[in-house]
Amino acid sequence: MQTIRGFRDILPEHIALWQKVEKEATQLFSAFGYKEIRIPILEKTQLFARSIGEATDIVEKEMYTFPDRKGDKLTLRPEATASIVRSYVQHKMYATDPIRKFFMIGPMFRRERPQKGRYRQFYQIDAEVFGIESAYIDSELIFLLNELFKRLGLTGLSAHINSLGCPECRPGFQKNLLDLLESQKDKLCDNCLNRMNKNPLRTLDCKVQGCRDALKDAPCTIDHLCDDCSDHFNTVKQTLKKQGVDFIVDKSLVRGLDYYTRTAWEIQTTTLGAQSALAGGGRYDGLVKEIGGPQTPGIGFAIGFDRLVEVLEQIETAPKPNPLDLFVVCLGKDAMEKGYHWSCELNQKNIRTDIDFRGKSLKALMKRANKLDAEYVLIVGENELHDNAIILRNMQTKEQKTFSVETLIDELTKIFKI
Ligand code: HAM
Repeated sequence: MQTIRGFRDILPEHIALWQKVEKEATQLFSAFGYKEIRIPILEKTQLFARSIGEATDIVEKEMYTFPDRKGDKLTLRPEATASIVRSYVQHKMYATDPIRKFFMIGPMFRRERPQKGRYRQFYQIDAEVFGIESAYIDSELIFLLNELFKRLGLTGLSAHINSLGCPECRPGFQKNLLDLLESQKDKLCDNCLNRMNKNPLRTLDCKVQGCRDALKDAPCTIDHLCDDCSDHFNTVKQTLKKQGVDFIVDKSLVRGLDYYTRTAWEIQTTTLGAQSALAGGGRYDGLVKEIGGPQTPGIGFAIGFDRLVEVLEQIETAPKPNPLDLFVVCLGKDAMEKGYHWSCELNQKNIRTDIDFRGKSLKALMKRANKLDAEYVLIVGENELHDNAIILRNMQTKEQKTFSVETLIDELTKIFKI
């Protein structure tokens, strides 16, 4: 039996970097006032179709959707924003305190063509903020991302930012874009022709050279912003500059999800080949209302956790998993019984202890202690037990000490400074 294509195991020898990132991220989120939220992996299909947009790649071709036994259409979550918005609305969080900051870490599912950095089950570190209209929160989120990557030692990243406008300025821009699309119709790919009426903004993101050439003079959202959107974007840029966060204004950045308004961004890396987006985010001021809540601004980002680990693996070797403090070698039946109880007692005291129950020879057990990288070995021998004695061997210095059975746990507790 093998994993499904695009799905993979993350084995214990690879887990240390994942844990390191989780620890840094959780610490940073907590400092910035974010609370952890856990959301279901399955939701009603309609939630994603409505929030991400019917005419997006995700909803059109990438979702894992199936009917349950009663015929309800369910989908494995392709992202977290829609679910967190649903939760915010379902629990009427806006009524008690509209300002909320959440983070979550977990798996997402998209049926894309698998390649390096792109999986069908992948992990995201996601942050969402509700109820804050100010442009400072836009810069704060980009600053937070920058800070996390800095703490993890990443370099060579670039933050691409753009403003996608709001329902006030978007129609004017869209009309100009549609006029151009109409005039270039014969040069567009089938996908863009299809998108033209449903979702014209997405044509700006098309990778087909013919479309790129045809749309090279296409209007940009930032050239059509209303005064409020323009002020908002200027504040974001000025704030980031003052904080020393480098960014590139990228007029072609449109993102693959429909809910965005105003600021949108992507953190890109040059070290992952085609999958250059390490994180993406933006503002979604209309989404809470769309999902049935009151008008509430929202903004957030998601980091591609798998991609982040892949970039980290290029710059550092995975930290070694914690070696064993103590390995208990038992020679004989009585020794095994004593050794078992001591081993459990030491585990209870958080001393990393392991024991082998196979009744092997001293030589074989010492070999295993070396393999497990044990700092100390406790040798429980049948003869020594008769004399009430246990041997403790320091595997590095090769020094051996003998303890009496009664003092053993106390002595070990001292050695491991518990
Ligand atoms: P997204 O750009 O679709 O945004 O995904 C965010 C990040 O997830 C990407 O930049 C990428 O690193 C990673 N990612 C996406 N698809 C895959 C895949 N198939 N394999 C590996 N990594 C992948 C969102 O999901 C939005 N919900 C972000 C957001 C939160 N916007 C506002 N709040």
